[in-house]
Amino acid sequence: MGRVSQDLIRIKGGEEQGSKVSRLLFPEIRQTKKDWNLIDMRSNKIFLRISNSTRSLIRRIYYFFGLRKYESTETYKELIPAEITAGKFYALIGQIASQSDVETILEIGSSSGEGSTRALVEALRSKPQSIKQVHCLEVSKERHEKLASYLKVDSRFYPHRMSSVKASDFPPFEEIELFHSKGHTKISRIHIDTVKSWYKKDLQYLYDNPKLTPQSDRGNLITGIDWIKNIYRIPIFDFVIIDGGEFTGMAEYEYLQNSKYIALDDTNSFKNWQVREYLLQHKSYILVDEDIQERNGWAIFFNTLHKI
Ligand SMILES: C[S@@+](CC[C@H](N)C(=O)[O-])C[C@H]1O[C@@H](n2cnc3c(N)ncnc32)[C@H](O)[C@@H]1O
Repeated sequence: MGRVSQDLIRIKGGEEQGSKVSRLLFPEIRQTKKDWNLIDMRSNKIFLRISNSTRSLIRRIYYFFGLRKYESTETYKELIPAEITAGKFYALIGQIASQSDVETILEIGSSSGEGSTRALVEALRSKPQSIKQVHCLEVSKERHEKLASYLKVDSRFYPHRMSSVKASDFPPFEEIELFHSKGHTKISRIHIDTVKSWYKKDLQYLYDNPKLTPQSDRGNLITGIDWIKNIYRIPIFDFVIIDGGEFTGMAEYEYLQNSKYIALDDTNSFKNWQVREYLLQHKSYILVDEDIQERNGWAIFFNTLHKI
């Protein structure tokens, strides 16, 4: 990945280094099974113009009196509302999926199938004879079960309960803290402690569910992405949708370099901000379309080395 600028390269020190770093930073990560409260982004707007310490004080008082609106205690056990349900991004996902030059599709973060997956299902319903393989990755057991039941009517869809990446692919939390402090994206409106709780929750789920990252014959951990590539003999996907965990967009892209079309959700957040920045500079990729403000932003890129 020669062209990725130094500040985008994550600290990687061997197979399990990343997870060791996380455990060192958060020694309690294996011991607790807390549900972490997710904070409503919108209600953070008011805090942006106030200094950090004042913000923190207000926040404490706010919590103390129970005035704050909580956005449930989302855990991976829960089904969550679909996100990509309409609009231009939804339409473009369907349009690209139904093109005749697109045969292999990978969706990361299918949830229970009612968002971006539905865009794919509806687009391909009108093309029952087309040769397609759509691989859907989802870590949550409950969401995956609902997804699999939704997809069973179309044999071109393959729902996999696997993780796109390994725990060691997570960037160190310091990188997220630094990114957060720069205020590039909407994630900076969320308190860093909340972001840290999301990070812990994501890693904890991978540690608690080791089968999400299967082992190769040689005993190495392999990602869901590489597993699909190997089993289905797909060296390069025609179309990938990256909408999985908040911290792993760049890691996922690294496994998917050279894909023909790349759709990124949440470009106005940590998830895919770096990937968008990287692809905007990339000499082979061109921006098909984007909206940095709709929800948390989205973008679609096309690799000009491929033929349409
Ligand atoms: C933002 S939601 C996806 C929303 C969905 N695309 C839609 O349009 O409604 C992200 C999903 O990614 C899943 N996820 C998180 N980390 C993942 C990983 N490493 N591999 C696969 N799925 C992951 C989460 O369980 C969650 O359901």
